[in-house]
Amino acid sequence: MKKRILSGMRPTGKLHLGHLVGALSNWTKLQSEYECFFMVADWHALMSEYENPQMLKDNMLDNVIDWLSCGIDPEKSTIFIQSHVAEHLELSFVLSLITPLGLLERCPTYKEQLREVTNRDLSTYAFLGYPVLQAADILLYKADAVPVGEDQLPHLELTRQIVRKFNHIYKTDCFAEPKALLTEATRLLGLDGRKMSKSYNNYIGLSEEPEVIRKKIQNMITDPLRIRLSDAGHPHKCNVFSYYSVFFSEQKQEVEQRCTKALTGCTACKKELADKILDLLAPIREKRQELLKNKKHIQEILSSGETKASSFARKTMAEVRGLLKI
Ligand code: TRP
Ligand code: SF4
Repeated sequence: MKKRILSGMRPTGKLHLGHLVGALSNWTKLQSEYECFFMVADWHALMSEYENPQMLKDNMLDNVIDWLSCGIDPEKSTIFIQSHVAEHLELSFVLSLITPLGLLERCPTYKEQLREVTNRDLSTYAFLGYPVLQAADILLYKADAVPVGEDQLPHLELTRQIVRKFNHIYKTDCFAEPKALLTEATRLLGLDGRKMSKSYNNYIGLSEEPEVIRKKIQNMITDPLRIRLSDAGHPHKCNVFSYYSVFFSEQKQEVEQRCTKALTGCTACKKELADKILDLLAPIREKRQELLKNKKHIQEILSSGETKASSFARKTMAEVRGLLKI
């Protein structure tokens, strides 16, 4: 029997290279080893974007198309939309019965978001419960492991605490503590050297036009000390070089040498990077065009994912209802 994983992504924007290296390429690899559930976390997105439901709706299908284009295979994995499986909210409520308020208030991601996000009001009842719903997502499918980035570890720890308390109170072993499958820290920086993010507008979108991507790469800042072509460069201080390291490590040495020996200029170096990134994105782009021709097919994928997820979720909820005598 394969072990099971569940992971989710909030449909808060279009996907970019950061999602590809941070999650999607990992998800794609895990598909052969695990039974996978990949979920569009629209309830989680609504917790902060409750004023923009249309934006979320527009991104939802678009994100799923990107998942499929990047190699998520509906024959292997169950792909579904969180809000289409009602049991997520039901189990979330049950778990909230026993989740100590203090644990949620002290959660580092919660405190950080309250501090950092200033353009909308996150001091809501729902947003405090964000990790409880995430625990429900995971436990509904009795996932053995959850592929996540480091930022999500506090939520996994909370899930484990909730599991221990639930099993203790109801004298059951209904749930097992899920493990975090930490995605290797291939942190891709944005075009300006900060974290790649839609809100910084420093990203390369998976579905952007090649010419736009070329321009974006050509505008990247390089080694600030390299003014003339004849100056030796410092690749380790150059964000362009970090892109070579993340995506084309086989070429790293060569680029490093040419840079430190002032054999190539930055414009040529960036042009070559752009060529290579466009080559990397070409098959994704092609698959995307193909998928866009048949949106009905994507709806079918989502509805069969929903059917599979629902039947799993119903079973878990029946067990939980039994324990709660309801
Ligand atoms: N909180 C996750 C994020 O922002 C998304 C998410 C929702 C998730 N439910 C999940 C991830 C369950 C893993 C498992 O990235
Ligand atoms: Fe960066 Fe390439 Fe210029 Fe060196 S040659 S500084 S690696 S862009």
